[in-house]
Amino acid sequence: MNNKRIIIAIDGHSSCGKSTFAKAIAARLGYIFIDTGAMYRAVTLYALEHGAILSGIVDEERVVGMLGEINIDFRFNPERGASDIYVNGDLVEGRIRTIEVSNCVSAVSSIAEVRSKLVAMQQEMGLRRGIVMDGRDIGTVVFPDAELKIYMTADPMVRAERRYKELTAKGDNVTLEEIYENVVSRDKADMSRAISPLRKADDAIVLDNSQMSVEEQMTWFMERYEEAVAK
Ligand code: DC
Repeated sequence: MNNKRIIIAIDGHSSCGKSTFAKAIAARLGYIFIDTGAMYRAVTLYALEHGAILSGIVDEERVVGMLGEINIDFRFNPERGASDIYVNGDLVEGRIRTIEVSNCVSAVSSIAEVRSKLVAMQQEMGLRRGIVMDGRDIGTVVFPDAELKIYMTADPMVRAERRYKELTAKGDNVTLEEIYENVVSRDKADMSRAISPLRKADDAIVLDNSQMSVEEQMTWFMERYEEAVAK
């Protein structure tokens, strides 16, 4: 196998398994995996816990005012085989995927100052190369020159069912209907926001995994990866 270390950008809709896929790729290649959605979620959680979001309404000015006091870092957790996210030294990994955070994260991630802070952090992480980063704007804004860009999608009901299983397995009291609504409304919000909307980069390859297992996706990926490093 070629030893060239590249940047792999994975963008796409919410809940289509981007993180699972990106994590598996990183483990296979010995690359670092960065879940940028977790960064937007961490800022959202902080805003929720510090009074900048009340009854679902995001006070943008207060969120922007808080940015200087939010320090995000990732620390590798060998048990998960991935990095956990910390805010100001506090492990928040287990608290960022609740429906409350999911319902507010699109609004927080549409704030320009939030995006510029997190994008700068992500670009710095990429200096090391050998990185798999997943998000919404990785191939378009964060790393427009990434050697391999993948745009993932899946049927919205398939995605809602996957997330429903994940959350109920953790004991969360949610309904499939509310998850489906959240998936559809986040697609809309992510694709229609003014700054860095979710869109396929011209040179990204589409992966629709509605009917694909993780193994099938890995086989599909390795062929594209070999082509990308051979270039
Ligand atoms: O991948 P996720 O569902 O955990 O992401 C949470 C939210 O963060 C998603 O609704 C859109 C936003 N996001 C973004 O705007 N840009 C990114 N690079 C990653 C996520």
